[in-house]
Amino acid sequence: MKKIKIKNLVTNVLGSEIFYYKKIDSTQKEIWRRIVTEKIKNGTIIIADKQTSGVGTHGRIWYTSQKDNIAFSFCIFPNCKLENLKNITKDIAKIFVDIFYDFYKIKINIKSPNDLIINGKKVGGILTETRLNGETVKDLVIGIGINTSKKDFEDDIKSTATSIYKEFKIKIDNIRVISEFCNRFEKYLEREKIFYIN
Ligand code: BTN
Repeated sequence: MKKIKIKNLVTNVLGSEIFYYKKIDSTQKEIWRRIVTEKIKNGTIIIADKQTSGVGTHGRIWYTSQKDNIAFSFCIFPNCKLENLKNITKDIAKIFVDIFYDFYKIKINIKSPNDLIINGKKVGGILTETRLNGETVKDLVIGIGINTSKKDFEDDIKSTATSIYKEFKIKIDNIRVISEFCNRFEKYLEREKIFYIN
């Protein structure tokens, strides 16, 4: 594991610290482990090349068995009501759709709320998890997995999953997409009053 900085990041909070793992069980699990031990700053991002035990929605497996795909999680300590977060997963999906269109002119569809779809197949997903204190959201942990260059698909997802490379034969600059996401998403958080920048 090493601490890294990423280019083109113009945020105040999101990406305050960024940790990169060549291999980890799950970036999502690592964020929660750090939250529990309180060894984590607001906006921390964990990125991995490979995950050995990645998690999807509804307890499903998320495979990040090959490198050069997008797999990262981050935490926000929002201080808002759960109600304020009701659209967050779909809105994140929209941010990614916009970025891939703006940067690469490719069209990705959303199967609401959390699936990114190309030609009817799943190319990515968003996992939004929260921990509440009464009615207030204390911790918000979001994990993003996008198959940008995945070539081999595990048997159970072979017929339902795809990658951007497989569909469009283009190579994605994963870190550039992540930094652009952070820049746009932090503006969204401010706009939606999900948290305030001090
Ligand atoms: C889904 O099922 O659609 C959500 C998939 C989310 C996968 C990402 S990959 C990075 C982060 N770490 C995990 O273990 N899961 C999320």
